[in-house]
Amino acid sequence: MNEMQQEIVAGLNRYRMDKIEPLMEHDDQECKFRMELFNEMGELGFTGMTIPEEYGGAGLSYEDFCYALEEISKSSISYAVTISVSSMTQAIINAFGNDDQKKKYLPDLTSGKGIGAFALSESGSGSDAAALKTTAKKVDGGYILNGTKLWITSGGIAKTYIVMARTGVEGAKGISAFIVQDGTEGFSYGKKESKMGWNISPTRELVFENCFVPDSDLLKEEGFGFKVAMSALDRGRITIGAIGVGCAQRALDEAVKYSLERKQFKQEIFKFQGLQFMMADMATEVEASRLLVHSAAQSFDAGTPNQTVASMAKMKATDTAMKVTTDAVQILGGVGYTKEYPVERFMRDAKVLQIVEGTNQIQKVVIARQLKKKYEN
Ligand code: CAA
Repeated sequence: MNEMQQEIVAGLNRYRMDKIEPLMEHDDQECKFRMELFNEMGELGFTGMTIPEEYGGAGLSYEDFCYALEEISKSSISYAVTISVSSMTQAIINAFGNDDQKKKYLPDLTSGKGIGAFALSESGSGSDAAALKTTAKKVDGGYILNGTKLWITSGGIAKTYIVMARTGVEGAKGISAFIVQDGTEGFSYGKKESKMGWNISPTRELVFENCFVPDSDLLKEEGFGFKVAMSALDRGRITIGAIGVGCAQRALDEAVKYSLERKQFKQEIFKFQGLQFMMADMATEVEASRLLVHSAAQSFDAGTPNQTVASMAKMKATDTAMKVTTDAVQILGGVGYTKEYPVERFMRDAKVLQIVEGTNQIQKVVIARQLKKKYEN
């Protein structure tokens, strides 16, 4: 970590311990998202970290962003994910939007006044994203959207949505990407999901019924939407990996601290070699995951994005989050399973990290396809 990264992490550590940590147990149970916390993180410069300063961003690297997300995740995976997905929305507009779109939409998102969301999945197209059925029919001056998007992170609280819809033939080539604002006529919210974890971050259906979107809100050009979505996920998967690292690190911290205090058989349970080996494995997995996440981020920052390493980082770090949080609950034993200690919340929150932004089985598909390409060449 360089000096600036150390400052970012130290600042976020103070902020999360003061403002986020004390609320999390309560807000998790109440499924309560606090917009004021998100706004405050915006004022501190954490909601648009990788976007150029001319659009209100901090102009920092993906590696800097990963350190920040790791730190926030140590208190709240939900807020880290809200920032991560909002940043993916910004990255799409920054990479594929024209000047007018960037000026119109980015400042609100980078400042943290508004939240961005990404709408790709549908009931019949989760892993098979290119099978989506939401339509965007060309009319005079724009498009009419019809269809329902499912499992949308920040659905209902976000202001700016990137919506993938079909403007042409079946498959990936017939998909286009649109910017749709909350409040647009014909755009409403459906079912809010009741979930195992990520309770503070709402997940909701988006419903489009004859929703008119002007030509000026089409991103890039017709038929480019699948590439927009996939290249955004290449970045998003790195940041989900960083969140997995933060989640796992917090669980490890809790497990070690507890094992040094808890006494059984007249000694701290840390003294039992069975537990020492478990914690040594947990620490090794966390460090290996962090290195992979930072390797993926560095290749992105160097302008040579590596899709394979991004998928490896997402898969490794989120599998680690699941394993390490589960082991932390085991080390804490009975109390680990109760809400008196935070490890059960981190274990519940870890699970969906293995599912979002492409299940870890889909990451293996991506890695294997790249392997095939490499060896065929
Ligand atoms: N960057 C740019 N273009 C890409 C790309 C990438 N990373 N990956 C694929 N493409 C292009 C391909 O080159 C191809 O274009 P050409 O035909 O011009 O060459 C086109 O897209 C189609 O590619 P594929 O044939 O590989 O597509 P596929 O249908 O076989 O799908 C897949 C590939 C990897 C399985 C993909 O469907 C996928 O990633 N599925 C998982 C979906 C997913 O991650 N959903 C996450 C939901 S969002 C979310 O979870 C966010 C949240 O809220 C937390």
